[in-house]
Amino acid sequence: MEPPFDVIRFERPALRVLDQSRLPHEERWLEIRGLDVLEEAIRSLRVRGAPLLGLCGAAGVAIAAEADSSEAALRAAAERVGRVRPTAVELATGAAACRDAALAVPERERATAAWAFCAAYLRRRQAEDAALAAHGRDALPPGDVLTHCNTGTLATGGAGTALGVVRAAHAAGRLARCYVTETRPLLQGARLTAWELQRSGIPVVLLPDTAAAALVVSGKVAAVITGADRIAANGDTANKVGTLGLALAAARAGVPFYIAAPTSTFDPACASGEEIPIEVRAADEVGGFGGVRWAPAGIEAWNPAFDVTPADLIAGIITERGTARPPYRAALAALLEHDEREAARR
Ligand code: MRU
Repeated sequence: MEPPFDVIRFERPALRVLDQSRLPHEERWLEIRGLDVLEEAIRSLRVRGAPLLGLCGAAGVAIAAEADSSEAALRAAAERVGRVRPTAVELATGAAACRDAALAVPERERATAAWAFCAAYLRRRQAEDAALAAHGRDALPPGDVLTHCNTGTLATGGAGTALGVVRAAHAAGRLARCYVTETRPLLQGARLTAWELQRSGIPVVLLPDTAAAALVVSGKVAAVITGADRIAANGDTANKVGTLGLALAAARAGVPFYIAAPTSTFDPACASGEEIPIEVRAADEVGGFGGVRWAPAGIEAWNPAFDVTPADLIAGIITERGTARPPYRAALAALLEHDEREAARR
């Protein structure tokens, strides 16, 4: 399954990305040639979604290598870009993998090696998304689904994770429509997922976040499926805030709740969800949107960007290698070992 449009291009010496903060009303590309601009783009969610953040982290190292490809400079760049947002593990691991690829060659060849790494990383991401979508199509029960946030091409550069599964299930005639939460406060569902599904010709039904539990218990959806930003060794999964509420509602209603994410989202260093760092964003994102403020000035707000769904609420974790089922500690470790065996063979 091919990505239906481009969101990221590696055009040495620049990274070009679609500015997601302007969608769906304006399709504007950003040209990024410096780490200050990249950092701002990541922090303000002009680029976002865990797998796409991995590609941007790698591009940060390639951009830095244009000015200085010493070991110290590449280490500093990977470190700096990797910590702009803390929850999606792939931002830091993508930057670190590009740094290591560049450091493996002589200094004068490092910038070339870093840009080559980025291009290969995008091709790998696209192949993995296609494989994940095919596994997910077969794992999901037939029927309509509910999804949350944005997990499509905008979030990965490939066909998407949960949204790739939706695309594959729709193409196979197993799903008629996709229900999408608006995903407050930054509206990734209403602005981005609705736009992606509409341009792919997949019927989409948008609902306020507050209607999600009622939808799940109504019997209208056969499954709930979301992406992930980081998956702990025991299967506890961090994803966009609101995911936990959907999983709890699904458990109460007897509706299966699935995570779709590449194995690069696994973080075996986190034993459980308690160890996953959760990004807390500015209060003003809750008090308004797009420059319009509706909450009283000076009001306190709590604005975590992610929450953690415990593994026991997850029916399956769909990856490019297949679908892990409980108990997750052994199932996830087996998928990672499979990855390592493949890498050793290449
Ligand atoms: O804050 P965002 O928009 O970067 O959050 C994105 C999500 O929570 C996605 O569900 C997750 O990154 C998976 S994207 C394939």
